[in-house]
Amino acid sequence: MLKRTKYCGEISQEDLEREVTLNGWVHRIRNHGGVIFIDLRDREGIVQCLVEEKQNPEVYEIADSLKPEYVIAIKGKVRRRPSGTENPKLKTGYYEVVIEKLEVLNRSETPPFPIDEETPLSEEVKLKYRYLDLRRESMKENLLFRHRAYQITRRVFSEEGFIEIETPFLTKSTPEGARDFLVPSRLHPGKFYALPQSPQLFKQILMVAGFDRYFQIVKCLRDEDLRADRQPEFTQIDFEMSFVDEEDVMSFSERLLSTLFKELLGIDLKTPFERLSYYEALERYGSDKPDRRFGLELVDLTDIFTNTEFKVFRQVIDQGGVVKAINFKGSNLSRKEIDELTQFVQSLGAKGLAWIKVEEERLNSPIVKFFSDAEIREVLERLEAKVGDVIFFSADKRENVYKILGNLRLHLGKRYNLIDKNRFDVFWIVDFPLMEWDEEEKRFVSLHHPFTSPREEDIPLLKKALDVEDLEEKKKLISSVRARAYDLVINGYEVGGGSIRIHNRDVQELVFKLLQISEMEAKEKFGFLLDALKYGAPPHGGLAFGFDRLIAIMRGLDSIRDVIAFPKTQKGICPLTGAPDYVDPKQLKEIHIRVVE
Ligand code: AMO
Ligand code: AMP
Repeated sequence: MLKRTKYCGEISQEDLEREVTLNGWVHRIRNHGGVIFIDLRDREGIVQCLVEEKQNPEVYEIADSLKPEYVIAIKGKVRRRPSGTENPKLKTGYYEVVIEKLEVLNRSETPPFPIDEETPLSEEVKLKYRYLDLRRESMKENLLFRHRAYQITRRVFSEEGFIEIETPFLTKSTPEGARDFLVPSRLHPGKFYALPQSPQLFKQILMVAGFDRYFQIVKCLRDEDLRADRQPEFTQIDFEMSFVDEEDVMSFSERLLSTLFKELLGIDLKTPFERLSYYEALERYGSDKPDRRFGLELVDLTDIFTNTEFKVFRQVIDQGGVVKAINFKGSNLSRKEIDELTQFVQSLGAKGLAWIKVEEERLNSPIVKFFSDAEIREVLERLEAKVGDVIFFSADKRENVYKILGNLRLHLGKRYNLIDKNRFDVFWIVDFPLMEWDEEEKRFVSLHHPFTSPREEDIPLLKKALDVEDLEEKKKLISSVRARAYDLVINGYEVGGGSIRIHNRDVQELVFKLLQISEMEAKEKFGFLLDALKYGAPPHGGLAFGFDRLIAIMRGLDSIRDVIAFPKTQKGICPLTGAPDYVDPKQLKEIHIRVVE
C-alpha cells in the first residue's frame, strides 16, 4: 500500500513541485473527457487531484472506475492550480496533485446519502449511518473541537494541581435526583449495581482521602426523559477541591472556561463572571437559567392591583398570588398572533393571558375596561408603554407566573428572532435556597443534593425550623436558608453546578432530618459517605460542568447530539446498534431476571 506522507487537507505552499502520497476517500469525481478530477478527502480536509488520459492512460483507466467513497491511495506531484481555477473556499484551493500512481484500497456501496453538508437528514438516518454522518465536515469538526477541549481541560487541571482519578461505574445509587440505571448482579441474586448519576459521593470521599484536588472527565448516567440538551449518558467535567470556599471553586471555573473560550474561539470572557441571585433571576426572567441575550423582562404589578375591581387579578392576589407582565415593545402583534400566544401559555397550564395593545387612538384590550384610571396609568408607566407595544399579563401563584411568563419570554425571543446569536452570556446563579417544598411528595427536598452546605449564618434558622410545628411558618423559615451553591449559565442553559459540601456531621444530620431522611435511610443509602466524613473530612467543595452542553453552546449548536459521537435518539434508542434490545433467555437466567409481560 502507498503510505501517506501528508494529510489531504494539509497540502500547502511548501509542497509545490514535491511528491506526496495521500490516503483518503473519493469525495467527488468529475470526468471532463480526457482529464478526471478527484476531490480526495481525509480527516484534515479535501484536495483536488487529477489525471490526464494522454499522460497516464493506465492510471486514467483506474480513476475512471472510481465511485464516491472509494478508499484510495495516490502518489503524485503538487502544482499550483492554473489561474482562474483556484477555489479560495478550500484551504488547499490553490493547489492540485497530478496523480502518478493510484491504488484502490477499498470500494464502497453507494451511500444512502451524499457526504455533503447540503442534504438534510432525519435524526434516524443520521444516527443509523453515523459513520457516514461523521464523515461530513461539520460533524467531524464538532468532534475535533471536542477533542481539543478535552486536551485543554486536562492541561488546565494538571497545571493547577488537580489529580485525575477514575471512580466506579458499578456502584450504589447517587442522589442527583434522576432515576438510576440498574445492573443486575450475577453473583448476588436479587442484588443490583446502580450506574452513577455523577461521581458525587466518590469525589467527596477522595477529599477525605486527602487528594486535595481531584478531577475527571466522566460519563454520567441518568434515566430521565430526554430533550435536545439531555442524554441518558452524558459527560461531565467533574472536580472537587479541599480547604476552599465558593470563591475558590468559582474562580478556578472561570479560569478553565476563559482558557477554553480563548484557545478554542479566540474570545476573551470578562472575569469575574457576573452573578445573579436565584430570586432575581426568577423575578426578572422567570427562570433560574435565563437567556439574557434579549430583553422582555418580567415586571411585577401586584402592588398596583391589590385593591382592583378586576376579579381575575383580585382573586389571585387575595390568595397570595402575583400579577406580572411583559412588554413586547414595538411588536404591533396582530390579534391572530396574540391568540396563538394565548394558546401557547394555556398549554403550559395558564388560565388565560390578559393583554393590552397600545394603539394610537386607544388601548386595545379585553381587560382595561375592568381597570381604574389610576391602575391603567400606573401599569403603562411602569412598563414604559408606547404606541405599538403589546403587554402580556399573568396572574397566578408565584411559581406558575414564573413558569408561564418565563416560557412566554423565551418563546417570543425565539419566534421573533430577538436573540443575539453572536453573544456568549456567561454568568453565575448564586444564593439558591437550600431546600424547597415539594407539593407532590409533601416534604422538603434539596435544590442541589443533600450534601450541599447551608450558609453558616443561616444554620440557626434551620435549627429553629426543626422545632416549628406550623407548616407554613416552617416553609417560610426554610425558604430563607441559603445554600452555598452556584450554577453556571451560558445563553440560557445550565452548563454547570456545584456547591460547598457539608463536612460537619451535626449539620448533615440536621439537614437529613429536615429532608425527612431517616437515620436508617441515610445509613442505608449513603452510610459509606457518612462514615468517611467521621474520619477527619476537610472542608471541601466542587462543581461539575456538562461537557456536551458546553461544547454544543461553544459551537452554536441547538442539540448536544451533534457533539456526541454515538448519541441516543429522543426515545433513548441507538439506531446504529439497535440498543436497547432483547437478550438471550440464557443471559437473563444467569442474572436471575424474569421479564414480566
Ligand atoms: P448536576 O446534576 O447539576 O450536578 O450536573 C452537572 C451538569 O451536568 C449537565 N447535565 C446533563 N447534560 C446532558 N444530559 C443530561 N441528562 C444532564 N444532566 C446534567 C448539566 C449540569 O449543569 N454532582 C453534581 C455536581 C457537584 O455538585 O459538584 C452534579 O452532578 O450541564
Ligand atoms: P375572563 O374574565 O376569564 O374572560 O378573563 C378576562 C381576560 O383575562 C382574558 O383575556 C383572559 O385571557 C385573561 N385571564 C384570565 N385568567 C388569567 C390569569 N390567571 N392571568 C392572566 N390573564 C388571565
